[in-house]
Amino acid sequence: MTKPIIIDTDPGHDDAFALLMAMASTDDVEVIGVTTVAGNAQLDKITYNALRLRELVGRHEIPIYEGCARPMVNDLVTAEYVHGESGLDGPDLPEPTHGVESEHAVDYLVDTLRAASPRSITVCLIGPMTNMGMALVKAPDIAASIAEFVIMGGSFHAGGNITTTAEFNIYVDPHAAHVVLESGVPITIMPLDVTHQAQATPDRVAAFRALGEPVGNAVGAMLDFVERFDIALYGFEGFPLHDPTVIAYLIEPGIFTLRSGRVTVVTDSGATHGQTTADWHREPPNAQVALSLDSDRFYTLLVDRLSRY
Ligand code: RIB
Ligand code: CA
Repeated sequence: MTKPIIIDTDPGHDDAFALLMAMASTDDVEVIGVTTVAGNAQLDKITYNALRLRELVGRHEIPIYEGCARPMVNDLVTAEYVHGESGLDGPDLPEPTHGVESEHAVDYLVDTLRAASPRSITVCLIGPMTNMGMALVKAPDIAASIAEFVIMGGSFHAGGNITTTAEFNIYVDPHAAHVVLESGVPITIMPLDVTHQAQATPDRVAAFRALGEPVGNAVGAMLDFVERFDIALYGFEGFPLHDPTVIAYLIEPGIFTLRSGRVTVVTDSGATHGQTTADWHREPPNAQVALSLDSDRFYTLLVDRLSRY
């Protein structure tokens, strides 16, 4: 059965892969809406990137809603040092012919979820969770309509990618992450522990480029640009494709090995700001966490889906 999903995103190179993968997977997921949030770059650039990605594949029936321009409490921290000044440097993407919806993303989330049946809509959170955090504060009742949060964020045994302890999405808005983690909604998390095992090695980049137009050359150019940061920081063989692991989980969950635990986040300032921890033994679990994946199956699925354009 096709799952109705909302994707909350800050494109962002890996977000682009997740969006393109989801929009191509019409047998598995129905993208009923996309909401944008400040993160990898300032909000205006993020929204423009989301519009350009939709234009690339002509899926104008999928509405895009612009969301929050800054975290709930902290000042915004962006990642142009990874994603470039545009937030999506590298590819030559088309100019949008359609714009965003007039409703704010937070209001869209509240209105759509209030009108939905219990546990009926899956929400994919692949950027800072500000929009979802604000929606849950404004209307806590909407939690009942969410089937599952599938989140790219956090790190448990892999260290941080913005500080020694914190992963970017959680670091930018730990307060929103706390609201989501305490919402009572079933949660699946794709942390750095698993996404660092999903590196876009040269042979995998070649497989994307072999897809040609309209998507293969675009995503190949994305990877050529964005890989330098992680190769320099970690000595990886390529960019770790964080966000599409969320979509792959929805399509083929068996790719992942999951463990349940009580996940919490550090919201105060200091060296552990934004750190996520999991109690695997004592506390009742609030999430399942992916700690490993079959990376060949993941890339085979990703290339297959992008080949559908
Ligand atoms: O830490 C990786 C996450 O932060 C990804 O979602 C990436 O797009 C950035 O948002
Ligand atoms: Ca992202």
